[in-house]
Amino acid sequence: MPVKIPAPESHPLLNMPCIYRSVVERLFMVEQILSEFRLEKEDLKEVMGRMQREMDRGLRVDTHEEASVKMLPTYVCSTPEGSEVGDFLALDLGGTNFRVMLVKVGEDEERGWKVETKHQMYSIPEDAMTGTAEMLFDYIAECISDFLDKHHIKHKKLPLGFTFSFPVRHEDIDKGILLNWTKGFKASGAEGNNVVGLLRDAIKRRGDFEMDVVAMVNDTVATMISCYYEDRSCEVGMIVGTGCNACYMEEMGTVELVEGEEGRMCVNTEWGAFGANGELEEFRLEYDRVVDETSLYPGQQLYEKLISGKYMGELVRLVLLKLVNEELLFDGEASEQLKTRFSFETRYVSQVESDSGDRKQIYNILSTLGLLPSELDCDIVRLACESVSTRSAHMCGAGLAAVINRMREHRSQEEMKITVGVDGSVYKLHPCFQARFHKIVRELTPHSDITFIQSEEGSGRGAALISAVACKMAACMLTQ
Ligand code: GLC
Repeated sequence: MPVKIPAPESHPLLNMPCIYRSVVERLFMVEQILSEFRLEKEDLKEVMGRMQREMDRGLRVDTHEEASVKMLPTYVCSTPEGSEVGDFLALDLGGTNFRVMLVKVGEDEERGWKVETKHQMYSIPEDAMTGTAEMLFDYIAECISDFLDKHHIKHKKLPLGFTFSFPVRHEDIDKGILLNWTKGFKASGAEGNNVVGLLRDAIKRRGDFEMDVVAMVNDTVATMISCYYEDRSCEVGMIVGTGCNACYMEEMGTVELVEGEEGRMCVNTEWGAFGANGELEEFRLEYDRVVDETSLYPGQQLYEKLISGKYMGELVRLVLLKLVNEELLFDGEASEQLKTRFSFETRYVSQVESDSGDRKQIYNILSTLGLLPSELDCDIVRLACESVSTRSAHMCGAGLAAVINRMREHRSQEEMKITVGVDGSVYKLHPCFQARFHKIVRELTPHSDITFIQSEEGSGRGAALISAVACKMAACMLTQ
C-alpha cells in the first residue's frame, strides 16, 4: 500500500538510526511540496462563487465581451417537436481523433427512440491540426468520403450532425463562428469564420458526395442530449477529457444574447476559459505557470489547464522534476525522457493510481521513462499523481457545483433533482476521479439530488439525435 505520511515529530522512526530517519524526513519534505495542491473547502467555495459571477457576466449583453466564461447560446431548446427517423451521419471533431458515425434513429415503443450506430475513427495528423483551416477541413472531407465508400452510401445525401468541440458563437443551430481554438488545435484561417461553411466548402471542393449539414453542437451538448434520451432529468452535460467544459439548460429570459423569454435554451459555458481575468491567480502554482507559458495559447484556458487530460500528465512530470531537483526523488537524477515535455502521459497518472500496492505498474511506467526507481520513489510518484488528480477533481467539482447551485436558485426550487450526463477519458478512465469528484460536488450543493450518468458514444449519438430534431423542425416550418 502507498506510504501514509506521518508527522515527523510523532513518527517512531525518528528515534532510529539516521538512514531510516532520512526516509521520514524525505517524505515530510515531499508532503510539504505536494500540500500546495490541496484545496480546502473554503477555497473551493471561493472558486465556485467567482465562477458564478463570471457565468452571470457571460450571460449579460453589457458584460459578455469582458467575461472570461462566455456562456454561449447553442440554439438547442427545451421543447423539441419530436423528430425524424432515418439515417444520419455524425461527425465528431475535438480531440486527437476524428470520428465519423452512421446513426440509425428509429422509433421504440417504450422509450420513443432507438439508436444504432456504426463508426470509424481517423487520427488527425499534426500538420492538419496546426496548418491551415483548408487543410484541416479537406482532411475531414476525405475521411467522410472514405467512410461513405466503406458503407456503400456515397450516393445518399444524408442529414449530418457535427459535434465540434470548441467555443462557437452560434447564430442558429447550423451556423456559428469559431471564437478561438483550444486543446492543441491551431489551424489558421478558421477563427472568426463559420465552421459549417468551412465544412460545406471542403465537401464542395471534393465534389464526390453531398451532405446536408443540419446541426452543429459542442460535445458537452451532444453528451447532454444523448443522456437526455435515457433520463429526461438530464439538463447538464459535462466533459472531463482532453478538455474540460459543461453546458446546462438556462432560462431563456436570462440568455440575453438571444431574444425570447419562453422555455429554456442550452448554454455552452466554455468554463475552461475561466481564470483569464485573474480569478485563479492565488490557486495557480509554479507548475501551472510553466504549463501555461509553454502552451500554444498562453494566458488562455487557465481553468482547463488545472483540470483536463491534455495537461494532467505534464503537470505531474513538472512536479517530479521539482522533487528530483530537491534531491527527494530518483537520487536527484532525472532521465532524458523525464526531461522531455509531455513524456509523462495522462494515462500514466491513471495507471499509477490503479497500482494494486505491489508497485509493479508504477515501476514499469518509470522504467519506460528510463528510470530505475526504488520502492520509496514509486510511492512518492504515486503521491504526486494523487495530488495533481485530486486537485483536478476538486477544481472541476467547484465548477459543476457553481452551475447546479445557480440552476436551483434561478428555478427557485428548495430541493432540485437533476441528472448530469458526463463523458471524457479522465472521468471515465481514472480510477478515483469520479469518486472524489462526486463527493466534493455533493458537499458543495447541499440542496440538490444529483444523478451522474455516463454517456456512451454521446458525441455522435447526441449530434445525430439533435439533427433528427432539427430536420423535423425544418420540415414543420416548410409545411406551415
Ligand atoms: C475545450 C473546448 C470546449 C469543449 C471541451 C471538452 O474546453 O473549448 O468547447 O467542450 O474542450 O472537449
